[in-house]
Amino acid sequence: MHRISKIHDLLENDHTELDDLVVGTFAALDAADAAKIFESLDFFWARLGMHIRAEHLRLFPAVREIASRSQELAAIPKILDRLRDDHDFFMTELARAIKAMRLVFSFGNEAETFAVVRGILEAVVERLKEHNYIEEEQIYTLTTDEYLDNDAGAKLLASVQVELDRYPARFESRSKQ
Ligand SMILES: [Fe+2]
Ligand SMILES: [Fe+2]
Repeated sequence: MHRISKIHDLLENDHTELDDLVVGTFAALDAADAAKIFESLDFFWARLGMHIRAEHLRLFPAVREIASRSQELAAIPKILDRLRDDHDFFMTELARAIKAMRLVFSFGNEAETFAVVRGILEAVVERLKEHNYIEEEQIYTLTTDEYLDNDAGAKLLASVQVELDRYPARFESRSKQ
């Protein structure tokens, strides 16, 4: 009935929140404030990790199942594979940025490290833009009631929400704004 499902809405809003977090990280880089950069990058990394886990563990398997029922959706598994490769890229690159920032606290080298971190973030943001667009246009759109009955839709929504609320222990006191 609705063009945009609740799952679609939830995950697209999370994309927007992630965009805002990365803007904050760039602002910290502009200010050359090592502690702020680390804190902001670490939080962006954690939130993106939670988003990716929700997709990887909950959404993508459901979409794969939906796609398997229809010849029209034969291209979907390939798209999901590509999106999973993007996820790996994001997490590997952000881990590299975090590691570089940790070294700053031991060894200095601030200017060089900030440039490296900025370069990594720019590459992540560029790929994330296309990635999110593909998800919003081709994947999240498969969660409407055209593809999922009420019960399955509600279960999937709840399971995605659980993952999006599952903060790593170091952020447990922090709540989503
Ligand atoms: Fe994704
Ligand atoms: Fe996503």
